[in-house]
Amino acid sequence: MFFKLTDEQVMIQSMVREFARKEIATTAAERDLTKEFPAENLKKMGELGLMGMMVPVEYGGEGINTVSYVLALSEIASSCASTAVVMSVHNSIVCESINNFGNEEQKKKYLPPLTDAKIIGAFALTEPHAGSDPVAQSTTAVLDGDHYVLNGDKRFITSGKNGGLVIVTAKTDEKKGHKGISAFLVEKGTPGMTVGNIEDKLGLRASDTTDLIFKNCRVPAENMLGKEGDGFKIAMKGLDGGRIGISAQSVGLAQAALDSAVKYVSQREQFGQKVSKFQGIRWMIAEMATEIEAARQLMFSASAMKDRGEKYTMQASMAKLFASEMVNRVTGKCIQLHGGYGFTKDYPIERMYRDARVFTIYEGTSEIQRIVISNHILKDKRRP
Ligand code: CAA
Repeated sequence: MFFKLTDEQVMIQSMVREFARKEIATTAAERDLTKEFPAENLKKMGELGLMGMMVPVEYGGEGINTVSYVLALSEIASSCASTAVVMSVHNSIVCESINNFGNEEQKKKYLPPLTDAKIIGAFALTEPHAGSDPVAQSTTAVLDGDHYVLNGDKRFITSGKNGGLVIVTAKTDEKKGHKGISAFLVEKGTPGMTVGNIEDKLGLRASDTTDLIFKNCRVPAENMLGKEGDGFKIAMKGLDGGRIGISAQSVGLAQAALDSAVKYVSQREQFGQKVSKFQGIRWMIAEMATEIEAARQLMFSASAMKDRGEKYTMQASMAKLFASEMVNRVTGKCIQLHGGYGFTKDYPIERMYRDARVFTIYEGTSEIQRIVISNHILKDKRRP
């Protein structure tokens, strides 16, 4: 599907590109070394309207569509993939889930501070023994008076330490399978919720990934998101949007890697000529540019379907699958184009290569995306 960006979308893209290159890219390498959370950048992004882009204006958001959002997210990912994943989970999963499933009080209470980036959102579904199969989770939530009491461990939670509000899933009825899982809005500082191990990761080092431990954590019953038993559906729907976000991160990061490689081969001389003059190199560049464009179109197509209110689960998985595999191929080839320098910290490409690695894993592995896609095709869920 081909479509033209509106003037407003082109404006958003240029504004975010300029901001990201000036404010975010310049400190990305340092953040990768220090693992410092990009708190200041996120605050500025809140002021620019990037932290609640698809939330309606009445709740403090920008009320813009997914196509505009992925343009912005790609630009942030081009500059700093750690900052982009925080933006993605916050916008795609947390804000959207509250907007889609929250009641009026919850939306009024939580969306304005989220959209202002006064608090950062996190999403806690995964557990030590339940990753690809979240129905196997063992965190429980038991009603006690006007509170639910949560017990269990969550793992690999993006912004687990720096998040101010976490959407937590837990079993409210063991016997009901996925229909026995519910979702809760848990505020930072709620007694009984503590941050456990903080992962020391290969990439995305400035975004914290932590365990969250719940020990008799009392959450007001009014903080249930949706109805009892809605938790799995909320998570899956949130991940549909989240997976489009990962495709945007992949496209942005791959474009930055290619730009860096093109610049390098256009300056570097070997055998008496620019490296870019060699046909083998030019073919690599052509192939990478084509792959990035294909991923971009899948990203736009899934986003546009979502914006039109169509079912887009399969297209989100296709965009995530293709784009995340693509960025791993592209960053690997771009290291090759940088030669020995690509293996050093003199150029940003080694960080990009490390940052990209998790894209085929988080928010559903490539294998899970293939399951979602083939299930849709074989069960013919694509057709009404
Ligand atoms: N939207 C709405 N509902 C959905 C849905 C969707 N996209 N997908 C499934 N459902 C519903 C189904 O309709 C079904 O409901 P009914 O029984 O009422 O019909 C129900 O959910 C169960 O569906 P399935 O039988 O298809 O579910 P399943 O147990 O076979 O699992 C799965 C499907 C695709 C494998 C799913 O478990 C999955 O996506 N797994 C991967 C989980 C994942 O991505 N985890 C990443 C966590 S977040 C993260 O990475 C960290 C971070 O912070 C970045």
